[in-house]
Amino acid sequence: TTPTPIPQPKETLLLGNLPDVDQSDSIGSLQRLAALYGPIYQLRLKDKVVFVSSPALVGELTDESRFKKYISNALKEVRNFAGDGLFTAWGEEPNWTLAHRILIPAFSPVAIKKMQGMMMDIISQMLMSWEHHAGTAFEAANSYTRLTFDTIGWCAFRYRFNSFHASEMHPFVEIMVKLLLESQSRSRRPGLLNQVLRSSDAAYRHNIDELWRQCDVIVAERRKFPDPDAHDLLNNMILDKDPKTGEHLSDENIRYQMVTFLIAGHETTSGLLTFSTYYILKQPAVFHKAREEADRVIAEAGGNLLKINHSKLTYIEAILKEALRLQPPAPAFTVTPIKEEGETLEGGYHIPHGQAATVLLHALHRDPGAWGADAEEFNPERWLDGRKIDPNSYKPFGNGARACIGRIFAMQEAQLALALIVSRFDLKMDDPAYDLAIKQTLTIKPAHFKIKAHPRFRNQ
Ligand code: HEM
Repeated sequence: TTPTPIPQPKETLLLGNLPDVDQSDSIGSLQRLAALYGPIYQLRLKDKVVFVSSPALVGELTDESRFKKYISNALKEVRNFAGDGLFTAWGEEPNWTLAHRILIPAFSPVAIKKMQGMMMDIISQMLMSWEHHAGTAFEAANSYTRLTFDTIGWCAFRYRFNSFHASEMHPFVEIMVKLLLESQSRSRRPGLLNQVLRSSDAAYRHNIDELWRQCDVIVAERRKFPDPDAHDLLNNMILDKDPKTGEHLSDENIRYQMVTFLIAGHETTSGLLTFSTYYILKQPAVFHKAREEADRVIAEAGGNLLKINHSKLTYIEAILKEALRLQPPAPAFTVTPIKEEGETLEGGYHIPHGQAATVLLHALHRDPGAWGADAEEFNPERWLDGRKIDPNSYKPFGNGARACIGRIFAMQEAQLALALIVSRFDLKMDDPAYDLAIKQTLTIKPAHFKIKAHPRFRNQ
């Protein structure tokens, strides 16, 4: 049987479908195209990409016996500095399996619970800086980026970026941000043009060398001064062996994993916290419910921040899940068929081997069939009122073996941070009329979202 043609907007001769996508808001464009063309459509960008957004089709794409993770053009560029680290490795690469087996226990709930003290250390620094700047407007995303960067540095490698003690971001952080932006531009330019743009290429290479050098210094120091009691990921990477083969990670691969944790560990979690803050400020009733819960759970711990039981913060967890639904910070992931002959989806759509098929999380997470008439509304209760949620309609952390290894880390950090924020501060939007605008790099965040924080208690 002949396959059903996949809908596609008309291509232009030279640029294919590039004019259909606004480069400063590609996620918005792709979502609008889904509304126009339906749950499966294709575009000719640098290469042809198929976009999918219904729970039924996503159910097929996330069947790991049929599809596997595909390293998209943007991720191919990130490989220039994250190599075969977990995020950017093809599943077939031996280092993916090795690092996955070594690191899975290090990201378990028990291991992450041991990091609570380290997380609280950084959260407390953020709260102090808010107190210090009481009443002055600041960009929420800026503060949360400092929080998540410092947290990943401290929890992963016992390295202090000390972002709350400096007016500028740490140079490590700035290099990272520049590299991510450049990767995105490069993934949209033809390869030859990247080589022709030599000055930007030279700066890019220089930044990569500098990033690697800083990682190597941290590893060399730990090897010289071992710290067996540190519950950090660096110890796991240096000391732990593959339970199956007894193999260790190479120094080169440890460096790639470090870069990976720095990228994956900060942008997404800070986006999650910024969106959550926006939504709870838009709905004061939600803010107050979160505060009641936080006050209760903190009181149950006798006010001892190290004893807070974050698993009791269920309403705050529902707020975070709802923010991840409406604004998934990592807004898409990409797969390709495993079999040489490709795969045919329900409806007769054929996806050839090697073809990138991208799951669009915004459209999926708002599918009215799966989420009902209030799909567009921020409603944490939907996670608590016992209704059934189709797992194929919610994939903020990706899928299967290639799903986010850091999700427990991210949720614990965000739950603790949000609980302390709502319990200790009254928050206001700087501009009460602010409406959500999105800034996009590899991930998405609210743009120009400023808040003011006032300590709720004196002498807190
Ligand atoms: C993978 C989202 C936080 C480390 C992923 C994927 C998604 C995701 C969607 C799958 C990507 C794909 O299929 O191509 C998020 C979100 C986060 C978050 C929304 C926060 C709210 C973190 C943190 C860490 C982390 C805190 C590390 C400490 C990773 C790694 C992978 C990954 C290493 C690759 C796993 C593998 O393929 O083996 N994440 N992430 N993420 N994430 Fe996260």
